[in-house]
Amino acid sequence: MSTTSAEVTQDIAEATLYERLGGRPGIEAVVEDIWNNHITNPLINKRYAASDPAEVKRLVTEMCCAGFGGPESYTGKDMITAHTGMNINDTEFVAVCDDVLKALDKHNVGKRERDEILCILYSLKPEVVYL
Ligand code: HEM
Repeated sequence: MSTTSAEVTQDIAEATLYERLGGRPGIEAVVEDIWNNHITNPLINKRYAASDPAEVKRLVTEMCCAGFGGPESYTGKDMITAHTGMNINDTEFVAVCDDVLKALDKHNVGKRERDEILCILYSLKPEVVYL
């Protein structure tokens, strides 16, 4: 039985962002590179000087999996609690977004997924900056 183009289009439309990124392994691979970009980015790396890399990667992976439609639950702090007291500015916020986009490019993530993720990041901006 052959698959029609309408069926293919519907499959793409219905796949979650989690599935389109390759599930947990795909997301873990991107998060690894986001972390590597952060710690080599002079605009923000001092922020993570005292962090436990494995723990930050675990929490960010979990948050992405849960938020992108995967079966995981996020067990970390909510965004306001996590970033309150840091007084993160606009430049730092853009730096984090740039690091994410760079990691997505490295993993050949498509434009549609890239745009969706950028929208999600910006929707969270008020929960991250100037707190
Ligand atoms: C929409 C953008 C962002 C998202 C989705 C995000 C996500 C997260 C998550 C999930 C955590 C872990 C929370 C926990 O400890 O339970 C975290 C912690 C943290 N975030 Fe963000 N973050 C964002 C933007 C930023 C920005 C712009 C900075 C500034 C460079 C930043 C700096 C940090 C730091 C320093 C921690 C604490 C790490 C630690 O506990 O060692 N974040 N963030």
